[in-house]
Amino acid sequence: MTALSSGSSRPLRGRCRVPGDKSISHRALILGALAVGRTRVRNLLEGEDVLRTAAALRALGARIERDHNGLWTVHGVGVGGMVEPDGVLDLGNSGTGARLLMGAVATHAFTSFFTGDESLCQRPMARVVEPLSRTGARFVARDGSRLPLAVMGAPSPMPIAYTVPVPSAQVKSAVLLAGLNAPGETTVIEPVATRDHTENMLRHFGATITVTATETGGKRIVLVGQPELKPADLTVPGDPSSAAFPIVATLIRSGSAITVEGVGTNPLRTGLYQTLREMGARLTFAKERITGGERVADVAIKAGDLKGVDVPAARAPSMIDEYPVLAVAASFAKGRTVMRGLGELRVKESDRLAAIAGGLRKCGVDATVDGDTLTVEGNGTPPKGGALVAAQLDHRIAMAFLVLGSAARKPVRIDDGATIATSFPGFVKLMNRLGTRIAEVRR
Ligand code: S3P
Repeated sequence: MTALSSGSSRPLRGRCRVPGDKSISHRALILGALAVGRTRVRNLLEGEDVLRTAAALRALGARIERDHNGLWTVHGVGVGGMVEPDGVLDLGNSGTGARLLMGAVATHAFTSFFTGDESLCQRPMARVVEPLSRTGARFVARDGSRLPLAVMGAPSPMPIAYTVPVPSAQVKSAVLLAGLNAPGETTVIEPVATRDHTENMLRHFGATITVTATETGGKRIVLVGQPELKPADLTVPGDPSSAAFPIVATLIRSGSAITVEGVGTNPLRTGLYQTLREMGARLTFAKERITGGERVADVAIKAGDLKGVDVPAARAPSMIDEYPVLAVAASFAKGRTVMRGLGELRVKESDRLAAIAGGLRKCGVDATVDGDTLTVEGNGTPPKGGALVAAQLDHRIAMAFLVLGSAARKPVRIDDGATIATSFPGFVKLMNRLGTRIAEVRR
C-alpha cells in the first residue's frame, strides 16, 4: 500500500503530455497480435493494465517487444492463429483486457483460463459471456459469471447478430473481436453510441467494417469475418481520461493555466470537455489533427469560476470514466450539479457512485446518490478537505481525491495510490511538476 497526501497546490503552470490512451493501447496490441506480420506502436500506455494484456497476448502466441526508445513491436499470428496458453491469463485490474481477450479467444478452438485481482474478480462478466456463448464458445465461471473463469473456444465459430443491452464499448468490442474468426458477418447494434476505437482500428488494420446510424440514434456495425489483417503502425494519442486530472486541478486552483499536448479528442470521449465548458471553463483545442484514425489536439485550460450544471444521461457514455473528477470540479462550483444515468459506475474498478459520494462527504461536500443520479452541491468556495479517503483499488478514485486535496482548505489523503500505475504511470511526478504538492505518506 502506498498512502499519498495532497496539500494546497501552487498555481499549475506549463505544458505537459499525458501517457497514451488506455483503450487504444489495449486494442493496438490485440489487433497487432491478430495481424499477419509486424506492427509498430508509438506512445503505448505502459501502465499495468496494458502490460497485462501484452503478457496475455505473448502467452497466446504473439511476439511483443519494446526497444529502449519505448517503441513497441508486435509480431502478429494472424486471425485464427492464437495458440492455447500454458498458464492462467491474469489480467490484473483490467476489465478491458479481460473482456476484449475473452472475445478474441472465444472463437479459437482451445481452452484458456482467466483471472484478475480482487477488484476484477468482482466485476460482472455475464455481459460478455452471454453473447460470446452464442458463437459456440462455452464458459465455466463462478456465480454471476465472475472471474476466475475458463473459456472453451468454439470449434466451429458462428457469426452472431447482437444488440448490446448496456452501453459498453467493452461488450461491443468483445463481440467484434470474436467475429473476426467467425465466417460471414458479425453484427453489433448499440442503441447508444460508445467509444469507437475498435471500429476505427479494425478499419486501420484493413478489415471490412461498416457502421450505419440506427433510427434511434444508435449504431449498427457489421464486420466481415476471417479477414487477413494487415499490420499497421500507429501512434497512440494521449489519454483524455488521464488528461482530465491535470485539467480539473488547473481549473480549481486560481492563477493556473496549462496546456496538455497531443490529447485524444474523439467525439465519443469528449463529454467532460463539453460539460466543463457549460460550467464556465475556459478550455480550448489547438493544432487539431488525425493520427492512426483518431482525432488529437492540444488542450489549453485556465482556472476560473465554475457554476453547477445538469449533465444529461445521454452524455454518460462519452465521459463514463470522468465522473470522479467531474464531481470534484462540481464541489468547487457555485450551485448544484446533477449527473444522471450513472448506473454503469457501480460496476467499474469500484462502485464509483458510492466511492465518489462517500469520499466527497468526508471532505465536507454535500453529495447524494438517488438511484443512478449523483448530485453535488457547491457554494463556489473550496471544500474543507482534511480527510482520509479509501481508494478501493480504483485508480480514478485515487487520482480524483488527490486533485480535490490540491485546492481544498486542508490536505486530503488516500490510503493507497498503487493502482494509479494501472492507467497513469508518472502521475505524481507530472502533477507536481505542474504545481501540485502530492507526496507519499511515510508510516
Ligand atoms: C473501455 C470502456 C469503458 C471504460 C473503460 C474502458 C474500453 O468500459 O469505462 O475504462 O476500453 O472499451 P465499459 O465498456 O464497461 O463501459
